[in-house]
Amino acid sequence: MAKGKKIKLGAMIHGVGGGWEDWKHPDAITDASTNFQFYKHQAQTAEAGKFDFAFIADSVHITEKSSPHYLNRFEPLTILSALAAVTKRIGLVATVTVSYSEPFTVARQFASLDLISKGRAGWNVVTSWLSGSANNYSKDEHPPHEKRYRIAQEHVDVVKGLWDSWEDDAFTRNKETGQFFDPAKLHTLNHKGEFFSVQGPLNIARSKQGQPVIFQAGTSEDGRNFASKNADAIFVGHENIEEAKTYYADIKRRAASFGRNPDDVSILPGIRPIIGRTEEEAERKYLETVNLVSIDKAIIALGRPFNDFDFSVYPLDEPFPDLGDLGANSQQGGSAKIKRLAKEHNLTLRQVALRFATPKGNFVGTPEKIADTIQQWVEEGASDGFIIGVGIPGALQDFVELVVPILQERGLYRTEYEHDTLRGHLGLEVPVNRNSKAKVLNS
Ligand SMILES: Cc1cc2nc3c(=O)[nH]c(=O)nc-3n(C[C@H](O)[C@H](O)[C@H](O)COP(=O)(O)O)c2cc1C
Repeated sequence: MAKGKKIKLGAMIHGVGGGWEDWKHPDAITDASTNFQFYKHQAQTAEAGKFDFAFIADSVHITEKSSPHYLNRFEPLTILSALAAVTKRIGLVATVTVSYSEPFTVARQFASLDLISKGRAGWNVVTSWLSGSANNYSKDEHPPHEKRYRIAQEHVDVVKGLWDSWEDDAFTRNKETGQFFDPAKLHTLNHKGEFFSVQGPLNIARSKQGQPVIFQAGTSEDGRNFASKNADAIFVGHENIEEAKTYYADIKRRAASFGRNPDDVSILPGIRPIIGRTEEEAERKYLETVNLVSIDKAIIALGRPFNDFDFSVYPLDEPFPDLGDLGANSQQGGSAKIKRLAKEHNLTLRQVALRFATPKGNFVGTPEKIADTIQQWVEEGASDGFIIGVGIPGALQDFVELVVPILQERGLYRTEYEHDTLRGHLGLEVPVNRNSKAKVLNS
């Protein structure tokens, strides 16, 4: 992280939790995934902690084996529009898949959230790894991995082009002259590409942050290139600081190779802090989550990055099976990592499944220990901040009440919001409208 820059923080709001048995925790609110009060409380807690943004993950295919949160949850842009009305400063980041959406609709929805929230919207661009998604969108086949990223590039380019349809001073709204807008400041995109044909213009103007902020989370070769070329902020999952440093250096190098300032790309690993007032209390809280998990559900969870692959056909206590290139067309980076770890540590299927279902991570301990680890990661070039993932119930509140003040005392984190847009929080410039820029260049 560049010297003098503050740590960036996001909060993933994820209902009852991503795991299959999180809802059984004694403190879990079992209907949290469709409970507006829960979402409101989480968003306001993150805002009290001066977080840069709240984040809603998403996917578009379930089976009866999906985890409880996935079975019954809010659509991201809808819940964030409601949260925009009960928050003031915090950024609002929604996941929408490019493989099953039209750029015109996506551009319009995010532009609306951006105006409703006065410049706080962000889009987490995903390509969707579950092949069953095709069955919900009248498609014969799920696009292969490489094609999904090609679709993503064209989709994002079209959305950004549409967002610039109206120059910032296009709407004159002059009752005396009767002119509502200046036609010279309205621009038609006329896009015809490999996947999309979109005329435009978009029927909504830009917000005070210019365009919504782009988030991404690719770990494969194509995913890394797409993220470092397009994203303002990147999510990632890491096992340890060494892996995080290597990824960080790689992404910053790729961003520079695309002609970008590497400081304009924030790398935010997902962490699940478990905080105790003592080490023993934190360990006890962690074990509580471990004890909730049955091997049957852990085996189902393990199948997810492999397109809901059924691991139950393999013996549990024998070496992790050889899967060939299984996973390459779903979560390519994540599935490859699981296979690599299993091999490197000589693990059985049971060990891999339990490790995947209850990862301990590096952020379990006292508030001081967690603040120290956060500081170490950002100072040693492993991250620019973190997305606080779904942990045990109350984890976000604990983080805000116990860890944030330590980071503030150390001067590493803001004590007040300096801005009121998501771009402002992340230290990003408002992008000049490409059509206004073109006029200046041509004049
Ligand atoms: C913190 C975090 C959040 C993510 N959120 C979503 C999500 O909401 N929806 C989704 O389909 N994928 C999500 N992903 C997964 C990525 O979109 C992507 O599929 C994954 O990183 C694998 O990319 P790859 O195929 O390029 O390796 C997330 C990943 C991370 C690390």
